[in-house]
Amino acid sequence: MTRILVTGTAGFIGFHLARALLSEGIQVHGYDGMTDYYDVAMKQHRHALLMQMSGFSATEGMLEDQAALDQAADAFKPDVIVHLAAQAGVRYSLDHPRAYIDSNLVGTFNVIELARRLKVRHLLIASSSSVYGANDDMPFQETQKADTQLTIYAATKKANESMAHSYAHLWDLPTTVFRFFTVYGPWGRPDLALFKFVDAILNQRPIDIYNNGDMYRDFTYVDDLVRGIRLLIDVIPQRPASKDDIAPGDSLSPVAPYRIVNIGNSEKVRLLDFVNEIEKCLGQKAVRNYMDIQKGDVPATWADASLLQRLTGYRPQTDIQDGIAQFVAWFKEYYGT
Ligand SMILES: NC(=O)c1ccc[n+]([C@@H]2O[C@H](COP(=O)([O-])OP(=O)(O)OC[C@H]3O[C@@H](n4cnc5c(N)ncnc54)[C@H](O)[C@@H]3O)[C@@H](O)[C@H]2O)c1
Repeated sequence: MTRILVTGTAGFIGFHLARALLSEGIQVHGYDGMTDYYDVAMKQHRHALLMQMSGFSATEGMLEDQAALDQAADAFKPDVIVHLAAQAGVRYSLDHPRAYIDSNLVGTFNVIELARRLKVRHLLIASSSSVYGANDDMPFQETQKADTQLTIYAATKKANESMAHSYAHLWDLPTTVFRFFTVYGPWGRPDLALFKFVDAILNQRPIDIYNNGDMYRDFTYVDDLVRGIRLLIDVIPQRPASKDDIAPGDSLSPVAPYRIVNIGNSEKVRLLDFVNEIEKCLGQKAVRNYMDIQKGDVPATWADASLLQRLTGYRPQTDIQDGIAQFVAWFKEYYGT
């Protein structure tokens, strides 16, 4: 029986992942600091729903509190750790860089160190498409050089990847790093575009459209993302005997049981088309406020998800029409609009 410690279970993705694991009968312990980056009531609500499922337990604590993290993990004895808790958000990192150093560098170090001490079977860590930074060779592949991060958020995620690689190498700690591409869906984060657009349109407020709408994102529906994570939990990287054992296109390290995997829809969608689709779904027009691109933003992201498919046989498939409809249905029910 697998026992999985998931950090960030009160968050958007962690909540969905925990729900999926619990529904398979897997024991899950959630660890989350309930930070006030956005509506804490929504985080508490997500945890309350998980608490109703059998096999779920949780500790409220910060990643930086190594003693609390260790205590929770020692009591639960996980054999797998999925580390999703982080200070997320690209734009917030311009004004609050230190939050990213604390949560993402110190916090992630504590999780990696814990995984080493407990000798877990597999450590899986959330990184981000934003580590591709100024790369413009699209779709992005895991084997590409990625050294041009444009924000402290992206820089801390890239640093997490390096930190995890060194531990995988030194201590033979099997590690998979995911690079997620713009995740959306029910229970989604209030700081992300879909939530902000739907909220503003329903309340007759204007929406800000950056780079005059000439932006592209690879929107990934949360259930598809969770399916990818779930399947990768069972794909444990093994240190190759030599470089020749690494298949072309595989990001497996030549010197560690360590691999990076994109999880994205592999389709780039123009922001204006995304807005049009939201309007269609709501049956209401947005008041559009066209703006310049924001500092630190990238004009496009687009995943090559063929490694995910090769490793798991799975590729994300929800299109934005379905995904937006699911989000809007949840939003209207949750907020009673
Ligand atoms: N949502 C996306 O589009 C997206 C894209 C790329 C990468 N990611 C990454 O995926 C992961 C999950 O993202 P999400 O969208 O669910 O974000 P989220 O903010 O909804 O969830 C993160 C959770 O971590 C908790 N947390 C934050 N800092 C903490 C700390 N120092 N100690 C303990 N708990 C802490 C928060 O309370 C929150 O519940 C993050 O690592 C994020 O960087 C998300």
